[in-house]
Amino acid sequence: MSRQHGRRDFLMKGSCCLMALGLGCSRQEQPVSRIVALGPPEKFAPGLTALEIERIAVLRDARGIAAVSLVCTHQVCQLTVESGSNGFLCPCHGSRFTVEGAILTGPAKQPLPWFKLQLNQRGIVEADLGSVVTSEWRLQLPV
Ligand code: FES
Repeated sequence: MSRQHGRRDFLMKGSCCLMALGLGCSRQEQPVSRIVALGPPEKFAPGLTALEIERIAVLRDARGIAAVSLVCTHQVCQLTVESGSNGFLCPCHGSRFTVEGAILTGPAKQPLPWFKLQLNQRGIVEADLGSVVTSEWRLQLPV
């Protein structure tokens, strides 16, 4: 074994030991923050507003605003908002979700994730797609 090869083995084994001890940094373990600008608060009327490009629906109610994914948890087709804002329908295989993102009918087996919202310095609503919250979470808007 060459001296350089031995050094490389030592470094590889050392980094594996650090990761095994939880001291290494693994990209998979760290939450990935992905901020998407959705628009000014006045863009979102009471009820659901579907944002096709962002694949998000914004819910506005008396408590504030929240954002739910419009990506089906079965095979990632884009959901549509059902008339009367009764929930979401997947055109691919027929999964239906409540307004809260719970499954009404499959084949989807996972509920829809909700994303944390924030106001940036210019007063624009942003969604953090790396930060999942409950369907009860709301961003309270300034009055
Ligand atoms: S992708 Fe939505 S039900 Fe299959």
